[in-house]
Amino acid sequence: MSDAVTMEKIVSLCKRRGFIFASSEIYGGLGSTYDYGHYGVLLKGNVKAQWWRSLLSERDDVVALDSAILQHPRVWEASGHLAGFTDPLVDCRTCGQRFRADHLDQLACGRRPSRHPGEDSECSLTEARDFNLMFATTMGPVRESGATVYLRPETAQGIFINFKNVLQFARKKPPFGIAQVGKSFRNEITPGNFVFRTREFEQMEMEFFVAPADAERWYEHWITERERWYTDLGLRPDHLRVRPHDPDELSHYSSATSDIEYLFPIGWSELEGIANRGDFDLTQHTRHSGEKLEYFDQPSGERYVPHVIEPAAGADRATLAFLVDAYDEEEVPAASSDRPAEQRTVLRLHPRLAPVKVAVLPLVRKDGQPERARAIFTALRGDLQAEYDEGGSIGKRYRRQDEIGTPYCVTVDHQTIEDGTVTVRDRDSLTQGRLPADGLGVELERRLRAPWRSPKLSV
Ligand code: GAP
Repeated sequence: MSDAVTMEKIVSLCKRRGFIFASSEIYGGLGSTYDYGHYGVLLKGNVKAQWWRSLLSERDDVVALDSAILQHPRVWEASGHLAGFTDPLVDCRTCGQRFRADHLDQLACGRRPSRHPGEDSECSLTEARDFNLMFATTMGPVRESGATVYLRPETAQGIFINFKNVLQFARKKPPFGIAQVGKSFRNEITPGNFVFRTREFEQMEMEFFVAPADAERWYEHWITERERWYTDLGLRPDHLRVRPHDPDELSHYSSATSDIEYLFPIGWSELEGIANRGDFDLTQHTRHSGEKLEYFDQPSGERYVPHVIEPAAGADRATLAFLVDAYDEEEVPAASSDRPAEQRTVLRLHPRLAPVKVAVLPLVRKDGQPERARAIFTALRGDLQAEYDEGGSIGKRYRRQDEIGTPYCVTVDHQTIEDGTVTVRDRDSLTQGRLPADGLGVELERRLRAPWRSPKLSV
């Protein structure tokens, strides 16, 4: 077993197996936008479901929200995005390309890709200027007289502007959190590295409101909790690290931020940021809207603007990290003993994340096996994401399920017809055992819920 993963292999597997495709491909593609296919939808859906589960089922101090993507333009004035959500942009007069000035050492020159922009004698870079990353559009039927509105660049502001509603209707008091999952849009100057940095992406953000004196404690709490979420879902701890921001890196709203970084094939990169936003956002929205966003504690008579701890994750980036961490290649014995060993690619995804939990496969397409296998599949699919496949050799079907990351393959063979048992093949260990088809769903659910550790941890 080796850690053979590269970004090219992930992109190729995602396309080959229908996880993620370049968007608008029949029109030549549209820079850095991606479409999720069946298995991609299931996988990213499981990532988001696990995030919700960790906040809504495993604790009782967080509530959910789904705010609009289009918000009043003054939201972005108050949040500071209109004035300050910019990246430094440089143009090259020679090749006509645009680059992020603070990423030049990671980018390739437009003419000589082996060099960085500005390194070649022919490069002619302009001075850096601020480029606002928000996508603007017009609300109303007439472009000229309509109002300019923005596609939200983060889900967080939708939470702050609903603080009062939640306080009133969810009957919460600090410490409590409001969580939201949804699309955000940024006109990134240099998107890239597959779904790592795109212009349209999904965020999973939670704003946790606390008494000012408790902010530091909750900041530490959420760093620990969020790191644990990734390792509980199988990410190798030696591929994760927490990196506190230097003071000069901090966003305008933050007094402290730590990134959870993952060792992607492109190197250590941000997976999620945990920020101590202080009272910046609630104070700004109070100032701009005239609506008091504060908490009044009746028993103590104390009135204060809560401070906010924000764990902000990317659903696409987390999905990419889980794919990268799960990708494995190894040599396995061929299905028949007279054949040489075969190479297999396998996604060793945590069973909770695996898009398909079980595949039901008749060994041959005769002797009543397909009918029996279909009946077993029908019994399983109500409770588990299951798949039925009878096309191609059994070896090929196993390889296909390995590449999707299916934890269990149930094979129906001649013995099934005789005694009602099936073989259950384990994706990671490749062990096969016989089990009665009756009660199979309960047994599989028990196995899927059991603690799981990445077999790549021993590499
Ligand atoms: N509300 C705070 C905020 O938005 P951020 O660090 O800019 O913080 C949070 O974004 C997370 O959203 C990032 O850690 C990353 O996972 C994801 N993200 C941000 N920009 C992204 C992009 N262009 N493409 C994909 N994911 C992105």
